[in-house]
Amino acid sequence: MKNRRTFLKIVLAGIVSFFIVIWNKLTMEHLQTKDGKNKILPFNKNKAVIFNNNYIIVTQNNSTKVFSAHCTHLGCKIDKQDGDRFVCPCHGSEYTLDGKVQKGPAYKNLEIVPFEISEDRKNIIIKG
Ligand code: FES
Repeated sequence: MKNRRTFLKIVLAGIVSFFIVIWNKLTMEHLQTKDGKNKILPFNKNKAVIFNNNYIIVTQNNSTKVFSAHCTHLGCKIDKQDGDRFVCPCHGSEYTLDGKVQKGPAYKNLEIVPFEISEDRKNIIIKG
């Protein structure tokens, strides 16, 4: 009986540790957008949507915005577009191309990322 309890405690500790490692990995990727260094991303003003690792670059009506690609629910990376929506692959939250949440479980809009376009208009410079 005592051995069984010990075994279950070890299994439970292993499961909890696994989820902590996964959570830290997701959180650290998200924090990499705030490390104080500028990041330079390739930019093509003729593409309406560009997915670039931690960022989504959206150009509509001659206006460009950059969003964090991390879902505001639990931080999963959004890397696909379905029509006029971004859909989170984890739990199905949906956002407009303006980053506004349309369907939960997320309830916050995508994070807007400050940026500049380089003088030659070939790069996006993400301010750290
Ligand atoms: Fe995106 Fe849950 S992490 S919906």
